[in-house]
Amino acid sequence: MSGINYSEKIPNNVNLANDRTLQRALEHWQPHFLQWWHEMGPTDFESADVYLRTAISVDAQGWAHYGAVHMPDYRWGIFLADPVAERKIGFGDAMGQPVWQQVPGEYRSTLRRLIVTQGDTEPASVEQQRMLGHTCPSLYDLRNLFQVNVEEGRHLWAMVYLLHAYFGRDGREEAEELLARHSGDADKPRILSTFNEPMRDWLSFFCFTYFTDRDGKYQLKSFAESAFDPLSRTCRFMLTEEAHHMFVGETGISRIVKRTLEVMKELGTDDPAKIRAHGAIDLPTIQRYLNYWCSSSLDLFGSEISSNSAANFASGMKGRPDETQYQDHVLRSATFHMNLPEGKSEDVPMLNALNEVMRESYLKDCEIGLKRWNRLIERAGHALRLSLPSSRFRRSIGPWAGIPVTPEGRQITKEEYEKGLKSWIPTAEDQAFIHSLMHKVVEPGKMAAWIAPPERGINNLPVEYEYVHLH
Ligand SMILES: [Fe+2]
Ligand SMILES: [Fe+2]
Repeated sequence: MSGINYSEKIPNNVNLANDRTLQRALEHWQPHFLQWWHEMGPTDFESADVYLRTAISVDAQGWAHYGAVHMPDYRWGIFLADPVAERKIGFGDAMGQPVWQQVPGEYRSTLRRLIVTQGDTEPASVEQQRMLGHTCPSLYDLRNLFQVNVEEGRHLWAMVYLLHAYFGRDGREEAEELLARHSGDADKPRILSTFNEPMRDWLSFFCFTYFTDRDGKYQLKSFAESAFDPLSRTCRFMLTEEAHHMFVGETGISRIVKRTLEVMKELGTDDPAKIRAHGAIDLPTIQRYLNYWCSSSLDLFGSEISSNSAANFASGMKGRPDETQYQDHVLRSATFHMNLPEGKSEDVPMLNALNEVMRESYLKDCEIGLKRWNRLIERAGHALRLSLPSSRFRRSIGPWAGIPVTPEGRQITKEEYEKGLKSWIPTAEDQAFIHSLMHKVVEPGKMAAWIAPPERGINNLPVEYEYVHLH
């Protein structure tokens, strides 16, 4: 059982006290992290009491403690899921061999890059979301935003622990760089482009936590399979927290749809202009935001055909999400039928198509929310259905990059595409309208007019609970 030592400066279940050098290195990094949080984390809420959960163990039952804290005093810690006895590599050319407790020399730079790329997204999203508190639709939502933010901060700790513990001086330098790059910075941007896009409104935030945090889930799931056991254990525990982030996205969009349907019923119309005039968000606008954030997140899986994905799998560094659901774990003779632009297609080695395999299972997972939202719309008696864009739509990586394709996946001319785009992704007017709705609502239990209240509160507390006490 992994108890967590809370008397230490850095709560952890990795026996940090027994490794003085590592402990000192991390205690040296800690004030840099806090400084980063102060400068780049949520603005102006440092003195607020926020009802947050904090990880206190990796037990399936009761791994979190709930209580009011000032965010700068949050106990960011290092928690790895319990080791699996005699764990063996579950895929690739070394399948069946014992997992690695240290980084094999030949994979050192690749593993470091994979960990840095994952780690970079965590503080990036905190930076992207730092202004959102000022326009929260309720205290419940404000608390959820901050919960996501502190946990992304903890995910940064998780990756920094691996860098410090297993990658020596290079790892320590990378840990500093993770605090030096900033989302949207002209000179030192974050590594992945989705994490440099500004986030100025809550519809985008809910789309981001629905689609982009779900990409995070898939990355973590593939690392949970890794032969590098400390990475696997780290990611297994991170997935526990990640589920809440996607919950925030899914229920956020559900509540917006619900409110829109109420207004449609009240006004007896589906005219977007009238719905907007009533302060709610029309369904076609929601669809455009879904198209935007889904397509942006699809690029995060990388190119359809990738020699890196092949090498990472063959070596055991990165598996497929839920690797055990597959029959073939080596993939040396499997092929994948890949559809390409201009009606062409090609059989490519399965090992080189793993990004696409992951993207497909990700899209399937994305359908869950769509089904729920559409059920609400159907029950309200409307014909419109929300949908996911095709994985070929608006891509900037891979064979479909820059190819004019409709959200349904049909290749069209450049002119048709340019013309269609304004009905497929948010226009400047859409964005201005959404902005116009963003006003801070901080009376306990009150909701902004464009979103319905949640079905229940946090941790069995009522919706009206004062989840954030502002001073
Ligand atoms: Fe995360
Ligand atoms: Fe997340």
